[in-house]
Amino acid sequence: MWTDGRLCYGGDYNPEQWPARVWAEDVALMRRARVNLVTVGVFAWSRLEPTPGRYTFDWLDQVLDLLHDGGIRVALATPTASPPPWFSAAHPDALPVTADGIRLHHGSRDTYCAAAPAYRAAARRIAAALADRYAHHPALAGWRVHNEYGTTCHCPHAATAFRRWLVAHHGDLASLNDAWVTSFWSQHYTDWAQIGTPRATQYLANPGHLLDFRRFWSDTLRGAYAEQRDLLRAANPRLPVTTNFVLGDWVPVDHARWAAEVDLVAVDHYPSAVDIGAEEQTALVGDLARGWARHGATRRRDPAAPGTGPTPAADRADASAPVWLLMESAPNQIHTAGRMHTKEPGRMLRHSLAHVARGSHGAMFFQWRAPTGGAERFHSALVPHAGPDSRVFREAVALGAALARLAEVRGAVEASVALAVDAASGWALRHPGLPSRHLDHHEEAAAAHRGLWHAGYGCDVVVPGDPLDGYRLLVLPALYLADDATAGWIRAYVHGGGHLLATYLSGAADEHARVRLGGYPGALRDVLGVRAEEFHPLADDEQVDLSDGGTGRIWAETLRPAGAQVVTAYAGGLLDGAPAVTRHRYGAGTAWYLSTRPDEHTYRRLLAAAARTAGVGPVCPGAPDGVEAVRRRAGHRSWLFLLNHTDREHRVAARGVELLTGACVDEAVTLPPGGVAVLREQTG
Ligand code: GAL
Repeated sequence: MWTDGRLCYGGDYNPEQWPARVWAEDVALMRRARVNLVTVGVFAWSRLEPTPGRYTFDWLDQVLDLLHDGGIRVALATPTASPPPWFSAAHPDALPVTADGIRLHHGSRDTYCAAAPAYRAAARRIAAALADRYAHHPALAGWRVHNEYGTTCHCPHAATAFRRWLVAHHGDLASLNDAWVTSFWSQHYTDWAQIGTPRATQYLANPGHLLDFRRFWSDTLRGAYAEQRDLLRAANPRLPVTTNFVLGDWVPVDHARWAAEVDLVAVDHYPSAVDIGAEEQTALVGDLARGWARHGATRRRDPAAPGTGPTPAADRADASAPVWLLMESAPNQIHTAGRMHTKEPGRMLRHSLAHVARGSHGAMFFQWRAPTGGAERFHSALVPHAGPDSRVFREAVALGAALARLAEVRGAVEASVALAVDAASGWALRHPGLPSRHLDHHEEAAAAHRGLWHAGYGCDVVVPGDPLDGYRLLVLPALYLADDATAGWIRAYVHGGGHLLATYLSGAADEHARVRLGGYPGALRDVLGVRAEEFHPLADDEQVDLSDGGTGRIWAETLRPAGAQVVTAYAGGLLDGAPAVTRHRYGAGTAWYLSTRPDEHTYRRLLAAAARTAGVGPVCPGAPDGVEAVRRRAGHRSWLFLLNHTDREHRVAARGVELLTGACVDEAVTLPPGGVAVLREQTG
């Protein structure tokens, strides 16, 4: 592992932004905070290669030696997310072009087209030079390639690569025309050369074109990552390689499919909510990252899976207990809605432990020391502008001590609910021309996850096709795209006795976003025992009343039972008395359907009802809402994380040894407001 069995703790370290005299102080402060892993060199390309082919490694030599002497390990980055000015000046054709055809200029970061041959060659060269020099440096724990792959481009290089990708994926133009339904609006292609990237158009663009463009970029960026990884691995096969995943609608990366390519799934997480929403998002991201790690490990076992190269054995995520790493987070602030919000004392620890509870092999931050200048000069840091005599650094020291006490924690996260998340469904539901602009697979997944989280049920994120053994309930949150294999996967699960809860539009379209005919939700009508003829998207502030006293938002449908039993009906208005929520026996299982987005309270009630039927219970039945309980198990050992996100004290029944204090807990643990406890449970 990256830190010899200890939990990783540290973050992005940018010594190139500081005079050498600060480096020794950095190492001393890192030791004081028990930092054991830092990422070095993420944006250091212009300091490593100031002119083409001339490398200045002396400063990095010194930094790595200093860190090594201090016992701090290094995830050495390749700096390819920010090419130097000389590169952009020499290769203007490698500067990215927007969908509007505007070529962007040097002056920020990520200003390159990953399909431009000159960029790829320069990226390989600097990665190879670093590998050559440092692959056997004793400070190295592994490699972190690039930073947050996620940029797209519409330049001629991108268009050429896109066409190549289309040929490889569709084979012939007839298949492409069919997949994209180009008979609509006279878009039938007769020559590959007629197809460009989906640039700005007069009116709505073709959905198949948009979807394939996203898939193309996911594969292209993965190729850019893989070629660096391969040359780093060749230089020292024992060093693990990863890249940090970034989340967001703009990111054309299918992280689940990428997961088999990295030796450790690493995720950056910056919540966009300030209140309890930050905790809800943290839990979801942890479950997503663990789901990707499990999916990657499963695919890696399949020798036929593409791109699955040899991996250093010790660093392989195990499908039965997948680990991942929180690679970046902000120490004391949440940046959202146009300003920075302070995380109150203790929240940095709680956020970090929430990730560790869900399988993160530690907690890493952006960034170690706040810079004096540059675009992110006011971004939070473990060593803030005020210096080490600060609340933030004192909390950083306390966090280091806490993580050191949790080194023994390992194992699988207890979960009996599976939540299916699919990148392509997310992309397709963002297309223009859909019946409502509020359709959002990820927001639908977040809503379901929130309900599960508040009820205290353990949840794993799965990717369509993943093994479902052991899960009692499968949730499909507007899983819009379902190819035949996905439909079969769902059917087999329910038929075999699984319980399903699907929300509107799940299975409505195929893998090319073509609508399935015969009534919604196309592929799942038989499992759900319903047929919807019409949908009725709701206005931004509109709600529909439900017969159980709840309300629905976003979406409503004219639903007819075809075997299903009505659980809740619409009340009043156009749909008065028509089914809103249904339940259907299918084979040995039960399938619930939600044709609207219930209000939070109603959603929780429905999830609880589905969970009860499925035999799903909370991880820690005594934990009140707002106290997050997560259990990890390894063999006969188990650890219970209790995180009090409320401003009240809570007492929760538990037994064992509380690892942060060493106290024995016989009956119950008292959690102060915002407090945390991690128990090595006493079994038997
Ligand atoms: C991350 C990025 C970092 C830094 C940080 C600021 O997404 O990787 O380099 O920009 O955001 O929050």
